[in-house]
Amino acid sequence: MDDLRDTYLGRIAEARDEGELETLRVEAVGKKGEVSLKMRELGKMSPEERQVMGPKLNALKDEINAALAAKKEALADAALDERLRTEWLDVTLPSRPRRTGTIHPISQVTEEVTAIFADMGFAVAEGPQIDTDWYNFDALNIPSHHPARAEMDTFYMHRAEGDNRPPHVLRTHTSPVQIRHMEKFGAPCRIIAPGRVYRADYDQTHTPMFHQVEGLALDKDISMANLKWVLEAFFAAFFEVDGIKTRFRASHFPFTEPSAEVDIQCSWEGGQLKIGEGDGWLEVLGSGMVHPKVLEAGGVDPNAWQGFAFGMGIDRIAMLKYGIPDLRAFFDSDLRWLRHYGFSALSVPTLHGGLSG
Ligand code: PHE
Repeated sequence: MDDLRDTYLGRIAEARDEGELETLRVEAVGKKGEVSLKMRELGKMSPEERQVMGPKLNALKDEINAALAAKKEALADAALDERLRTEWLDVTLPSRPRRTGTIHPISQVTEEVTAIFADMGFAVAEGPQIDTDWYNFDALNIPSHHPARAEMDTFYMHRAEGDNRPPHVLRTHTSPVQIRHMEKFGAPCRIIAPGRVYRADYDQTHTPMFHQVEGLALDKDISMANLKWVLEAFFAAFFEVDGIKTRFRASHFPFTEPSAEVDIQCSWEGGQLKIGEGDGWLEVLGSGMVHPKVLEAGGVDPNAWQGFAFGMGIDRIAMLKYGIPDLRAFFDSDLRWLRHYGFSALSVPTLHGGLSG
């Protein structure tokens, strides 16, 4: 009995976890445990023997149970201590100001553009980034055989065999939002639609995802003159240069007639680009008078309404305004770059408070 006692108390003292303790409990005082088997032998003993052995065995059982319980508690305490030690947290440490996030230049510029056009009475419209090829092409007077489709390097969504739904694309421009807006709200209207667009292209000046802002203004008598005024007012506000000159070059888009590409005035002195001075030109957007077929596709009567549309690269004007040389850096998520070019989350661009404060 002393051997039994020494063995079990020794092993309990050395147990490392609750599982081991449970195994020991079963081996010693479980139904078929060694102590229990010994108790069963009591029946075969003489009454005198039993009177001595009975209490001894009971005492041993109690002693083992007590040791098990004590060890269990000690193990739980040790586990808690370990947790408290590893999960220790000094709540009195000061915060780390360097970890404050910044507003991405694209978000900042989108806000700036929105603030300027909002001031001229333009509302913000949105459309899906995955759209049908009808909204992205057909409704914009780009039929399926049209070369503009091939030129756009379109990403087509995968279609399972037997799927008869119209083909979907990642929109190649924000112009489909023109159609969606006309369908919903008709004319007159004055909106901009900023957002992501996608084309399969990648080099220093092209990324497969980039940003555009669409503009659409429809009314009875809107003309190219209104377009020119609005864009010049926009560039003056955006680049913070009064009287910035624009140049309209005749161009072609299937969805506008006539069409013009618009350049802004700039100078290159000593490799330094300056916007709004000198006699150089930089192309920044495509525009024109909305094609009658496009109005029709949007459910607007081309005999009653007319207007202008434009599409501008947000990334491009962000690079020009903030001197960012490589387009791809916008999307690298490099923290050092983000901290350098990012904007304070607390200074929201407004015309009265300053656009780029
Ligand atoms: N959607 C054209 C593009 O992505 C830009 C544009 C928009 C041109 C509206 C004219 C009118 O290049």
